[in-house]
Amino acid sequence: MNRTLRSLLVSACALFALGLAMSASAGDAAAGKAKYDMFCASCHGPEGKGDGPVAVAINPPPRDFSEGAFKFDTDEDGSAGTDADLRNVIANGAAKYGGNQMMAPWGGTMSAADLDNVVAFIHSLKQ
Ligand code: HEC
Repeated sequence: MNRTLRSLLVSACALFALGLAMSASAGDAAAGKAKYDMFCASCHGPEGKGDGPVAVAINPPPRDFSEGAFKFDTDEDGSAGTDADLRNVIANGAAKYGGNQMMAPWGGTMSAADLDNVVAFIHSLKQ
């Protein structure tokens, strides 16, 4: 293999890895808000304060996202509320991790991109 071809391949790989790294994180919070308003605000509230119209009947109550504090360490890495944990709770529901079944699984309703976007939106609600 000549040197030019090899360096071309190396840069193609680097670009590919960069693309993967970028797509693995950083959801689009604005796009996430649209899904949130549709599926989540009834419980978690329009501003994420856990005060949606359905919330009064639920105990333990829906999480207040303005506090930015989370309960479930779904991947048992020692810290709750990482992006991976939030994605897991949203996709699989809280009951799977010992939480309230009112927090239902949304993995069948939302795509992987939707999950990333809604996680980004939840982070943006912290005050
Ligand atoms: C029917 C009411 C309801 C709806 C709708 C709902 N949730 Fe929840 N959610 C809850 C409850 C209740 C909890 C608290 C569970 C617990 O502490 O056991 C919760 C907890 C959470 C948590 C906290 C996880 C943690 O580790 O602390 C996240 C994140 C979350 N919900 C995201 C969402 C998203 C995103 C949607 C929309 C796709 C949604 N929820 C829709 C009721 C709801």
